[in-house]
Amino acid sequence: MAVDVLVGTQWGDEGKGKLIDVLTKDVDMVVRFQGGNNAGHTVEIGDKRYVLHLIPSGIFRAGVKCVIGNGVVVDPIALDEEMQNVKTQGFDISQIELSDRAHLIFEYHKRADSLNEKGAKRKIGTTGRGIGPAYTDKMRRTGIRAIDLTNAERLAEQFRSECARYNKIFAEYGVEEIDVEAQLAKVLDAAKRLAPHVANSTYTVNKAIRANKTVLFEGAQGGLLDIDHGTYPFVTSSNTISGGACTGSGVAPQHIRNVWGVLKTYTTRVGEGPFPSELFDADGEELRRVGNEFGATTGRPRRCGWFDAVASHYSCMINGVNLLAMTKLDVMDGFDKVAICVGYEIDGKVTDEFPAAVSDLEKAKPVLEWHDGWKCSLSEVRSYDELPENAKRYLERVAELVDAKIGIVSVGPRRDQTFEV
Ligand code: GDP
Ligand code: IMO
Ligand code: MG
Repeated sequence: MAVDVLVGTQWGDEGKGKLIDVLTKDVDMVVRFQGGNNAGHTVEIGDKRYVLHLIPSGIFRAGVKCVIGNGVVVDPIALDEEMQNVKTQGFDISQIELSDRAHLIFEYHKRADSLNEKGAKRKIGTTGRGIGPAYTDKMRRTGIRAIDLTNAERLAEQFRSECARYNKIFAEYGVEEIDVEAQLAKVLDAAKRLAPHVANSTYTVNKAIRANKTVLFEGAQGGLLDIDHGTYPFVTSSNTISGGACTGSGVAPQHIRNVWGVLKTYTTRVGEGPFPSELFDADGEELRRVGNEFGATTGRPRRCGWFDAVASHYSCMINGVNLLAMTKLDVMDGFDKVAICVGYEIDGKVTDEFPAAVSDLEKAKPVLEWHDGWKCSLSEVRSYDELPENAKRYLERVAELVDAKIGIVSVGPRRDQTFEV
């Protein structure tokens, strides 16, 4: 039996999709457990590039069961579209199962998301996918779940009632009201195709574990965007850390063996919020250009900075990361020198602990440790031994600072640009 969890250790976009695809060559089942189509997970196979938002990144391997767990919030129209796309590209969507307990996102959640952003003193810079409002409805116990996709009458009744509630709010704030019947028709159309995929996935996953199958949990976002542990309020609305795999799927913690932490060897962030090691100079531009740091979901340019060991050590700690998948090392090939942020100076005091207050993080001046670059292309490197000494020293220092073992190194977006350590 092997049940592993793979999570992002930063502010998302670490390369989780690529790593899930690589690891699923030996896996029976991949399970998404939180987030929704705010995620954008890129998988490159040969010269083809796929971006997945809701479908687990195991879909490109024949026979791998892909479960969307109860902790995910699912836009049925977006999922239906994504499934049809993947099907057109020749992949088998019968592998996909949607937990009957997963909550649904509708048009009114998206409008509420943008209304919240407009009304906020400080915008979060959400993806606009309705994630926060959908999780809010789940917690206030007015959500509509995937099980309701299997009963058109019940779905219509709940949908009309929720639309009426939201339309009152929209009318008050001058937001265009939902055309209830037109939206309902779209939802019911998607529901017809999705209903056969809806199942009691809690049993599917637990039975697979009991049958000694290999299960891999696919995190979305990253530890620093976690609703409890991240840079609140500049976070997403779910528990992105490995603990979320249990609540988001119905699998108990003692089953989990390894926690893979995907760690980008520099740092990026999309949207608003503190980012102590952010670069506003030519180095930041270079990371964005070479790393092609533009959002896979919204296309927004990602903010770039040096590797932040304070933030990532904290994230690896709360995730229990024991194995690191270190990505995008090749992006720094051209740099004479690279830096690691090893501490924060806040009000004249240096700390290596990640503070809770956004105001402290905003004041934090990064304490930088400089390393010589390797100044050669890593994209053809296929083993740890082939890496130049300076690159090895850099990786080993990062691993030491975050207190985890290097398991995999990635030197390019393709499947083959990966090696175990
Ligand atoms: P995710 O959200 O964590 O799955 O990451 P994204 O897909 O949003 O962003 C990661 C980007 O980096 C994608 O475009 C990947 O194809 C690409 N990528 C992943 N690993 C590497 C790597 O080692 N080197 C380079 N150059 N690109 C990579
Ligand atoms: P993957 O899985 C990077 C960010 C948004 C915003 C904040 C809240 O591809 O790593 P939300 O729409 O979730 O309410 O937005 O979280 N965010 C991500 N940033 N990668 C992601 O997913 C993200 N999903 C949400 O930019 O700052
Ligand atoms: Mg992404």
